[in-house]
Amino acid sequence: MNTDKLSKRLETVASFVPNGAVTADIGSDHAYLPCYLVKKGVVSAAIAGEVVNGPYQSAKKQVQAEGLTDSVSVRLGDGLEVLQPGEAECITIAGMGGALIASILDRGKDKLGDVKRLVLQPNISAISIRTWFIDNGWELVDEEILEEDGKIYEILVGEQGNPDTPYQPLGEKGLLFGPF
Ligand SMILES: C[S@@+](CC[C@H](N)C(=O)[O-])C[C@H]1O[C@@H](n2cnc3c(N)ncnc32)[C@H](O)[C@@H]1O
Repeated sequence: MNTDKLSKRLETVASFVPNGAVTADIGSDHAYLPCYLVKKGVVSAAIAGEVVNGPYQSAKKQVQAEGLTDSVSVRLGDGLEVLQPGEAECITIAGMGGALIASILDRGKDKLGDVKRLVLQPNISAISIRTWFIDNGWELVDEEILEEDGKIYEILVGEQGNPDTPYQPLGEKGLLFGPF
């Protein structure tokens, strides 16, 4: 994998990022996704957030090596605390457990007001994200499931809206397996 050719998992995450939407990738080990989005011309600016110093340094090195320091801002910090309110229009969080992703969103609620889309790829417990969406006014607008290297991945896309819309009726099965 490099920033011209991502893994199928991250390429699918990238496919849900709206054209031109300033995007923050949280938990951005190596900054592969932000670099890819800028190089493909999907976005003109992106933010890579990382809480652990090692991956943060890797992300910085990658962005420097690609000559993208003007368009990809690499920041060290926990979850959405690396963002100013209104700065990102799209947030991607991939490769973590669903409960951790939900807790990052929950602790960063003050940064979500102007965010138009969340693209989330939980390794486990997608139900934690579906439940968080319902409790916080986010509508699940799309989902994708894919297999890569013998592993199954789910990608959930949320926008601010009516959280009940995809669940008619709301039931445990919908929350567990996804309405799409
Ligand atoms: C398994 S890696 C996934 C990297 C990349 N997003 C991907 O999908 O390939 C998870 C990354 O998230 C980072 N991370 C975990 N919790 C975080 C938090 N609260 N804020 C920012 N980064 C976090 C970890 O340090 C790690 O680099």
